[in-house]
Amino acid sequence: MTDEPVRTYLNYRPPEQCYTLQELDITYGQAISDYAISSPFQLLSSTGIEALKSEILAEEVQSQCKFSCERTACCLRGVSRYCPLLKRLWSSQEVTDIVSKIAGVKLKPVMDYELGVCNIQVPDARGDDALVDDWHTDSYPFVAIVMLSDTAGLVGGETLVKRGDGSVLPFAFPSAGSCLVMQGQHVVHCGRRMVSGPGERVTMVTSYVPADPCLPDRSIMKGTWRVSHRSQLYYGWAKYRFASLAAQANARLSALENRPEAAVEEEDVQDIMAWLTHMEDFTRKTREEMLSCEAAYGQLKSAQAVSQQA
Ligand SMILES: [Fe+2]
Repeated sequence: MTDEPVRTYLNYRPPEQCYTLQELDITYGQAISDYAISSPFQLLSSTGIEALKSEILAEEVQSQCKFSCERTACCLRGVSRYCPLLKRLWSSQEVTDIVSKIAGVKLKPVMDYELGVCNIQVPDARGDDALVDDWHTDSYPFVAIVMLSDTAGLVGGETLVKRGDGSVLPFAFPSAGSCLVMQGQHVVHCGRRMVSGPGERVTMVTSYVPADPCLPDRSIMKGTWRVSHRSQLYYGWAKYRFASLAAQANARLSALENRPEAAVEEEDVQDIMAWLTHMEDFTRKTREEMLSCEAAYGQLKSAQAVSQQA
C-alpha cells in the first residue's frame, strides 16, 4: 500500500483565494513575504485520508508520540518514524511543490520530527468554547494544516485567524482532506472545537522553512519543546540548522568561485564580511534556542518537584 505513487493519496484542487498580510492588516515586520493564508482547498484523496488515519492509530504512535500542554490538550508529534506513508507523503516533492506554489516561495519541510503533527480534539471540561489549539503564532515560518475528520454538516472546527485590527476571520474546512497553507509565524491563529457531531477533530500539520538557505529563517523552538521528546527534537533541529549552514557556505563559495579574482573589489570584501556576520548570527541563534529551551525545561522540572513536595 505504501509503495503506491504519492499521487494516489492526493486529490489536489487549487485554493480559490489567498490573502496577503496587507489584506489582513497584519504588520509585515520580519515576514518572508506578503503571503498570509489560503482558503482551504482539497489536498488528499479519500485513500490518502484513510491511509494516514490508519497509520496514526498504530500502537507505537499512540504510546510514544502523545503530548499535551497548556495550549493543546492532545497532540501526536514525532510520528514520521513510525508512519512510512506519512513520512513519504509529507517529504515528497509533489506535496512540497504544491505548498510552495501556494505560498509563493520555494519551501521545504523543516525536519522529520515535525512531519504530520496531529492536533486532536479531546473532551474539555471548559466546554464548547475551549479551543483545540489556543491562540498563537508558529515556531516555523510556514505551515500546511490538513483536516483529517469528516466535516460535512458539522459546526465548528475552523482555523480562526486574527486580523491586524483584532477582528477574527474563520477558515472552515469544507471536507476531510482539505488543507490550508499559512505563514503561521506571522498570522495569529487558533483551532476551534467541533461543537456538533461525533466531536472528532483531527488536523495534521507540517511546518516549512524557505528552501533557499540564504533567505531569512527565524525559526524557533519555543512552542515545540514542551510537546516533544527533547533529544529527538534537538537532533532534528541540529540536522536542519547544520544543513542550512552548509548550504549557506556552499552558496557563498559558489558566488566567490564565479567571481574572477582579478575583478574582486572593496564591495566584495564587505559582502564577505556581511555573510560571515549572518552565518555567525545563525549559528548563535541555533545554540541559543537550545539553551533557552533547556533553561525553560529546567524551570519546569523544578516547579514540578516543588509541587510534588507540597
Ligand atoms: Fe499553529
